[in-house]
Amino acid sequence: MTFRSGRHFLQIPGPTNVPDRVLRAIDRPTVDHRGPDFPVLVHEIIDGLRRVFRTSGPVIIFSASGTGAWEAALTNTLSPGDRVLMPETGHFSSLWRSMAERLGLAVESIPSDWRHGAKPSEVEARLAADSGQRIRAVAVVHNETSTGVTSRVPEIRSAIDRVKHPALFLVDTISSLASIDYRHDEWGVDVTVAGSQKGLMLPPGLSFNAVSGRALAAAKKAQLARTYWDWQAMLQANESGYFPYTPSTNLLFGLREALSMLEEEGLENVFARHARHAEATRRAVRAWGLELNPLDEREHSNSLTAVRMPEGHDADRLRALILDRFDLSLGQALGKQKGQLFRIGHLGSFNDLMLCGTLAGVEMGLLAAGVPHRAGGLSAAMEYLAAS
Ligand SMILES: Cc1ncc(COP(=O)(O)O)c(C=O)c1O
Repeated sequence: MTFRSGRHFLQIPGPTNVPDRVLRAIDRPTVDHRGPDFPVLVHEIIDGLRRVFRTSGPVIIFSASGTGAWEAALTNTLSPGDRVLMPETGHFSSLWRSMAERLGLAVESIPSDWRHGAKPSEVEARLAADSGQRIRAVAVVHNETSTGVTSRVPEIRSAIDRVKHPALFLVDTISSLASIDYRHDEWGVDVTVAGSQKGLMLPPGLSFNAVSGRALAAAKKAQLARTYWDWQAMLQANESGYFPYTPSTNLLFGLREALSMLEEEGLENVFARHARHAEATRRAVRAWGLELNPLDEREHSNSLTAVRMPEGHDADRLRALILDRFDLSLGQALGKQKGQLFRIGHLGSFNDLMLCGTLAGVEMGLLAAGVPHRAGGLSAAMEYLAAS
């Protein structure tokens, strides 16, 4: 690798920058996960996670990336051939859908332009049309990391309730948990899927299911094959503070530290910080005269901003130049939007000057790559940050 002086700017929308405190917590001798002290750590972590998911129910921790927790959510609650309603919002909802299909579920998709979130009215219409109530679950990505669009989860919950449909509600919060307001219990979510490498400020490697009573009851009847992902073995072992297999011990030390940091800052302040950085970023984009990917003002993500490129200009070329010249990593466009946009991650352990450095890198990149834009995006963001 080429030598680079100074700090790399990792501003993809996850994995995010891991704070020193978390790195230090991970950097210690591994302990016996069947020893007498281990349950203290496990109980403390599960209690802390409950506060972040805003649930009084169980939170299950897997040694896996987010994809594993997706699979756990489906296999623990559903049976082969079950119908699942999955609004398409972007690349990640499409991947979750294709997993569901490969598992033998009958997916009903709701297509979209990848510039809007899941539409509560469409969910309501599909469920209302399901007179035999054969749809077993509605699965939604809260924050579509590929498009920078946040779906309105409470409104989708209300849509499900309006038609009195008994479908389970599964929500992916991989790029929203601990960044954007989220409430598992209050919003009536049955399974919340999350990962370690975004708002939780950890390296990749852990993922989570928060589980409602209804989901636990569904798990008793669900017939999809599952072994590693089975909740039952986990819940049983967790009760006494252990795992049924070897957990990622050192990541759990990191998780304990990350949870302490979130508590010290206060979740409401964490959400407000993300909202403020997102607003500053959007002001920069508008001042550059570039277009934001989300089309509905109510659905702008607070954890990342997806910026569309002017016609004829390739986002990947711009990103490559910015990485090469300024050592700043930005997120690439995924799936069918490839090359059309770049994504600025502003989630996790982050502050005003990190955002200014990021936006300076983007603005210099736009100039160096000859992408048509107006100067002044960074200044617009700085003005907002200074005044707010
Ligand atoms: C919203 C969302 N869902 C699912 C995933 C897949 O998670 P992982 O790559 O950790 O398996 C990602 C990854 O970025 C994501 O952003």
